[in-house]
Amino acid sequence: MASTSESATEEQHLASEAARAFPTPAEEQYPLPPSVVDAKNYTDPALFDREMKAVFHKSWFPACPSVDLKEPRDYVVWDRLGQSIVISRLDDGSVSAWHNVCQHRGARLLKESGSCKGGRFACPWHGFQYDLSGKVKMVPLKGSFEAERLEDLRAPAVRVKEWGSFVWICLSDEVPDLLPYLGTIGEELSFYGLENFETRYRFTLELNANWKMVVDAFNETWHVPFTHPRTLGKLVHWRDAHLRIANPHSWMTLPLEGFTDRMGDVDHRLKNICHYLAFPNTIFSCFPTHLQSWNIWPVSVDKTLFTAWGVVGPTPEGLRDEEWQAQNDRDWKHFCAVSAEDAEVLNDWGTVSQSLGASQYMFNTAESRLTAFHAEVARRVALEQ
Ligand code: FES
Ligand SMILES: [Fe+2]
Repeated sequence: MASTSESATEEQHLASEAARAFPTPAEEQYPLPPSVVDAKNYTDPALFDREMKAVFHKSWFPACPSVDLKEPRDYVVWDRLGQSIVISRLDDGSVSAWHNVCQHRGARLLKESGSCKGGRFACPWHGFQYDLSGKVKMVPLKGSFEAERLEDLRAPAVRVKEWGSFVWICLSDEVPDLLPYLGTIGEELSFYGLENFETRYRFTLELNANWKMVVDAFNETWHVPFTHPRTLGKLVHWRDAHLRIANPHSWMTLPLEGFTDRMGDVDHRLKNICHYLAFPNTIFSCFPTHLQSWNIWPVSVDKTLFTAWGVVGPTPEGLRDEEWQAQNDRDWKHFCAVSAEDAEVLNDWGTVSQSLGASQYMFNTAESRLTAFHAEVARRVALEQ
């Protein structure tokens, strides 16, 4: 909450913002009617377990930037959602993903990311050996096992697809391939030439809040003048966000002060921040030349991991590499400051989430993307039962 010592100038600024007319009729700009969700949606451990199966076990999400697997035989150990998965770069340049679990007696095969020069991983318990794609290649005391149990034995494969400078994974065989899954969001993102982008920055925050509350916090803009008055309030036209629902995903265009108007009649991606939610937990906040991407990973019903990447396109014409680097350093610092402001509100939310005074929450039309998101989570959970 703002302190009473806030300057009169700031109050005047907020008042004049609030008095500004909407540029388009609200029903066009904000596509869905208001809605209500029960506060238990954010605190019920049994519902959380169902969401893991119905939502997170059946979606695509980026597990790591491609740059983390720069060379053949590099591998990443991905520990999220109660799973441990190895993602490796094979000698032919393709990627492979498989569960980090030995097929003898279930040991964890790899502790952390690295590079496997010899191309073989040995289980630390009894020495089964695996190749870079998770196939069992050597079994000690082989003759002491039933032969047919060793045939084609491998650590179970995980679906994987490298796209847009990220390596994406999916824990289910029932889900469509990545690009059909992403639909409109994939088409929108294709415009940017992400295959030429590179992740150069990253951070992780631990939040004391339910994962859906974190998704909510990053998919509407009218908290901007209150949570981010100094960092974002004057940089983006938060009131002019134009929301689109592309079930199960959603997105919005967000005009930038001193830039969007000046660009005139060009493609929306060349003149706005375009902000995409790839259901359920991946956000791309795209500028024409770079982007921030972040993921929201449930840990438990009241704990969430927020992982963010700063992704940079080729040096724009007219800039030297050092200038482009310096500009990106500044942008990333700014993004970290903005995220810290969101984190403070979310952690404070966590301290009152069990309050007897919190029974239901409401979304207005400016929060249409949240309405759509919650409806989709609820639909999937209901289908799973
Ligand atoms: S658990 Fe891996 S070899 Fe025994
Ligand atoms: Fe925010």
